[in-house]
Amino acid sequence: SPLIGLSQICESGLGYCDSESVLSSKILIKGGTVVNADHLEVADVYVEDGVIVDVRPNIKVSDEFRVVDATGKFVMPGGIDPHTHLAMEFMGAETIDSFFSGQAAALAGGTTMHIDFVIPVRGSLSKGYEAYVEKAKLSCMDYGFHMAITKWDDTVSKEMEIMVKEKGINSFKFFMAYKGALMINDELLLEGLKKCKSLGALAMVHAENGDAVFEGQKRMIELGITGPEGHALSRPPVLEGEATARAIRLAAFVNTPLYVVHVMSIDAMEEIARAQKSGQKVIGEPVVSGLVLDDSTLWDPDFITAAKFVMSPPIRASGHGKALQAALSTGILKLVGTDHCTFNSTQKSIGIDDFRKIPNGVNGLEERMHLVWDTMVESGQLSVTDFVRVTSTECAKLFNIYPRKGAIRAGSDADIIIFNPNSTFHISAKSHHSKSDTNVYEGRSGKGKVEVTIAGGKIVWENEELKVVPGSGKYISMPPFNYLYHGIDKADENYFASFKAPLSPPHPHHNHDSV
Ligand code: URP
Ligand code: ZN
Ligand code: ZN
Ligand code: ZN
Repeated sequence: SPLIGLSQICESGLGYCDSESVLSSKILIKGGTVVNADHLEVADVYVEDGVIVDVRPNIKVSDEFRVVDATGKFVMPGGIDPHTHLAMEFMGAETIDSFFSGQAAALAGGTTMHIDFVIPVRGSLSKGYEAYVEKAKLSCMDYGFHMAITKWDDTVSKEMEIMVKEKGINSFKFFMAYKGALMINDELLLEGLKKCKSLGALAMVHAENGDAVFEGQKRMIELGITGPEGHALSRPPVLEGEATARAIRLAAFVNTPLYVVHVMSIDAMEEIARAQKSGQKVIGEPVVSGLVLDDSTLWDPDFITAAKFVMSPPIRASGHGKALQAALSTGILKLVGTDHCTFNSTQKSIGIDDFRKIPNGVNGLEERMHLVWDTMVESGQLSVTDFVRVTSTECAKLFNIYPRKGAIRAGSDADIIIFNPNSTFHISAKSHHSKSDTNVYEGRSGKGKVEVTIAGGKIVWENEELKVVPGSGKYISMPPFNYLYHGIDKADENYFASFKAPLSPPHPHHNHDSV
């Protein structure tokens, strides 16, 4: 029967069970307000076999189907998180959330797709890709890959082409920090930008001046500052602003689009705004921690409490978060990620005597939708349609999978949330679905609640219960040449024409001294 109580079929006690055979593949969502990035209307949504078949008022379906009442609620595209690190080996540890636990957490919070960063194995993109294909076999929701570039030679250059043309990767991240580990220099960044441009891939940067951070860390240690506050003090906003400006100027020099990940400071945001004003195609991605947290917690005398907030670039003084919210509301910043990169208390303790060894990263995959709603919509800074844009649609467009993802419309994947604006959310490590024992948003609550999550056409979150199956998530191949590339050849012609103009007609040689 399609009306079977779904909670009855999940008795594993773990909140996870194989319910594939019982879940209805036909779902009718009735009476909700359907929200897309460009439009909002009261309508029903009919889903069959993982795809949205119809969106219009008063749909009648004769067949056997499951009805979900969404009266008084918003029916929105599932969130897409552009920035996560699941099962990532980093700074002597591996992030505690696997592709299963991290995605389960995501689904409980209304996110139905994420894009994770493949880290090459000793510089090899193909080995890195294979390793992540293995990790991702646990997936219970759809996912895509970005790839980091950590060294440069002909093999890397050729492998970038293979990744784009054969493996469905359309974006590459360059780390301008983490000296001695992931960091690249300007020469590599230039090569990478040129290669991205030729492939139609989106270049992404982690923008902090890694050499200066290294110097800042030495200074702190010399001053005897070894605790988590040393992390923030050693890598101030000016170093983020410098690297952001440098990356933007190099991207302008190559004439290729640029995506700045985890924008954490006014300094970086203003560089992005300046470039946009001059017409440059620069995307800025704030992350939830940067929007809603401030650095005060890094001074907590309890190491574990402070260390859980250590991420890079650091969480800044409170004025930065407010400015980033304003920039998100006016469109300078385009979409919100999390940089979900969870290490538990034991892992964070690697750095108990030296902040430089604290594995960097915070949670957010489960909390993003609720916190963006509460911070941006409840405060009047974003409309409901803009909420959909910054949490889902813009990501789908940038990574070239729109309207398969990021929209509630016929033909799109059935990744849908039912959001009750009159309910409340509560965040705690006691109730979250991440495997971490801490949560940087511990104790927060606010208005709005994801009550139902439908992923790939199946109800996976309902009545506070998850029904997810490892291996059910699909890899989403993402093609190159997104909308930022439209017209880039014209821009190239103009750019090179600007050099040629004074030489045409050929300038006759003459001796200035004789004039
Ligand atoms: O601290 C962070 N951000 N950890 C994840 C790696 C990165 O830089 O994105
Ligand atoms: Zn980064
Ligand atoms: Zn990251
Ligand atoms: Zn002359």
